[in-house]
Amino acid sequence: MNKITCRSPSNIALIKYWGKTAGQIPSNPSISFSLQAAYTETLIEYSEGSKSEGITLDFLFEGKSNLKFQERISSFINSVMEYFPVLNGLHLHIESSNSFPHSSGIASSASAMSALALCLVSLEKKLNGKLEFMNDFHQKASYIARLGSGSASRSIYAGYTLWGSLKNYPPFTNEYAVPINERIHPVFKTYGDAVLLVSQSEKQVSSSAGHRLMEKHPFAKSKFSQSNKNTHLMLEILEKGEQMDFILLAEVEALSLHAMMMTSNPSYLLMEPNTLALIQKIRQFRRETLIPAGFTLDAGANVHFIYPELNRNEVLGFVQSDLLPLCQQQQWIDDKVGHGPVLIKGTL
Ligand code: PMV
Repeated sequence: MNKITCRSPSNIALIKYWGKTAGQIPSNPSISFSLQAAYTETLIEYSEGSKSEGITLDFLFEGKSNLKFQERISSFINSVMEYFPVLNGLHLHIESSNSFPHSSGIASSASAMSALALCLVSLEKKLNGKLEFMNDFHQKASYIARLGSGSASRSIYAGYTLWGSLKNYPPFTNEYAVPINERIHPVFKTYGDAVLLVSQSEKQVSSSAGHRLMEKHPFAKSKFSQSNKNTHLMLEILEKGEQMDFILLAEVEALSLHAMMMTSNPSYLLMEPNTLALIQKIRQFRRETLIPAGFTLDAGANVHFIYPELNRNEVLGFVQSDLLPLCQQQQWIDDKVGHGPVLIKGTL
């Protein structure tokens, strides 16, 4: 069988990556957990191509051809060919689909780029018997995913990961994400994430444009230094199992990310009125119940409501009664800390 299929999850950052330098190098480290329900599944079928240098490809997204995505994927794969000499001259038929609606406002670049990177590295291993450039399968997949979309580097692993170099912490690097599950207190390993869909329209400002606006941002330096400190703090919190501190720090990081957007030049707002309404309701719920549950935000209007598994029944009752009326068509995704990517069996 000339096919490889990989399923890779989206992830949600607790410490945010926002701002980068050439070669997709993050301006500060970030920490996230991989999701379970929100994923991309990608299939690559390979055959002899018509060119001797680089690859040719055709692409189907959710069963239909999509030229915009096809061009992006083709230029991405050709840009990383130096890492995959064995793929030279192949034609790739690629099919990709998401477990969540494309228009849901869920960031799909992390799941899409990590699924693609995992397929490419698997294909290299299958055809070459070994990997060029880097020996470790996951490190190479994370490195390649990073070149496609920074946050995708973190989707290569189950649970919690850290991407970006940290002073005096040798395992961490800007080149690929590193799993940190053995440092994590068990209480955080089963957190739930109710993804509340506020707006399903396309973002007015893309993440790439947002990263670019950080280059001349007046607060960039303090933001990078704040997130650097917050990474150290979050590692400590995750190790010790301090749930309320975890939630409060995740909220600081989420609002700090959006503060950067509001104070860029030009400035922009990705939050919608119902984003704020949800935030207020979540904070009120926490004040009243003392449950260590809170929100984080991606670069968009949707709200990730993160909560301890232990309180799931109470939280879901609150989601149904108070939060869903504020979501577009009452839509949400019932997600949680996930088990990481899978190579679909029978194809390797
Ligand atoms: O991976 P990119 O370039 O789409 O950047 C995404 C950045 C955020 O999602 C806003 C934060 C993060 O760390 O995931």
